[in-house]
Amino acid sequence: MTLTANALLDVRQASRHFGGIRALTDVSMRLRTGELVGLIGPNGAGKTTLFNLLTGVYEPSEGTIILNGESVGGMKPYQINHKGAARTFQNIRLFGNMTVADNVKIAYNRHAKYSVWSSLFRLPSFRAGEKEIADKALAMLKIFKLDEQRNELAKNLSYGGQRRLEIARALAAQPKLLLLDEPAAGMNPQETRELMNLIRWVREEFQLSILLIEHDMSLVMGVCDRIYVLDQGKLIAEGTPDEVRSNPRVIQAYLGQEA
Ligand SMILES: Nc1ncnc2c1ncn2[C@@H]1O[C@H](COP(=O)(O)OP(=O)(O)OP(=O)(O)O)[C@@H](O)[C@H]1O
Ligand SMILES: [Mg+2]
Repeated sequence: MTLTANALLDVRQASRHFGGIRALTDVSMRLRTGELVGLIGPNGAGKTTLFNLLTGVYEPSEGTIILNGESVGGMKPYQINHKGAARTFQNIRLFGNMTVADNVKIAYNRHAKYSVWSSLFRLPSFRAGEKEIADKALAMLKIFKLDEQRNELAKNLSYGGQRRLEIARALAAQPKLLLLDEPAAGMNPQETRELMNLIRWVREEFQLSILLIEHDMSLVMGVCDRIYVLDQGKLIAEGTPDEVRSNPRVIQAYLGQEA
């Protein structure tokens, strides 16, 4: 794994309010290239809100978000996607009535280099581009064991299949930073184990930084290099799985949730 000195993602004192609700307060975090980092915390802690700030769904009320050396706070989601951050959603968002293959091709298409001119007239350069995209999409679907279902409608995939397809689509945007919002939600234990192995493999293969929101503690502890813990919009801990597991504030936050 390559770790560069500079952070790929550098969040500096980011806050987000919704009216009177302080969803995030003064959150700072850094991810280096190649790191697989967990983001955990009780329900409503602000995990998804942080993803929404990182991907341009919401603008930070305060603070700075630097991706690959460039401030991206306030950019539109497609702009941040082009800058190298791609995500999946807690509630799966696929094009259900499109085929599995087309869901991935559409993400490659956004990055295709051929001109509008060549696509309008279906020039050879356009057709070659289309073939390349189809090949790349198929290779990606193979990685996620979805190639045999490539011509099915996305909505007809199993829940686990839809979650894997969302990750495949996110990767087709060729991100440097992959944000996964509870990718194993709704999966059975076997599927979950396979997915976590796949996430680790993908991180190595694509030289990615990954930020992973996941509720299953043993799972996060098992796969992540480091973990950030949010509670009520504030970071309460950061460290290795062992450090976080034994942190009294973390234990308190989770006990509080159970009570
Ligand atoms: N668009 C919004 N408008 C108002 N409040 C919001 C909005 N988005 C998030 N919030 C609030 O911000 C807080 C954090 O929510 P968020 O969804 O980020 O939590 P979470 O950690 O992802 O929780 P969960 O584990 O349940 O997914 C909650 O109180 C939520 O109601
Ligand atoms: Mg959430």
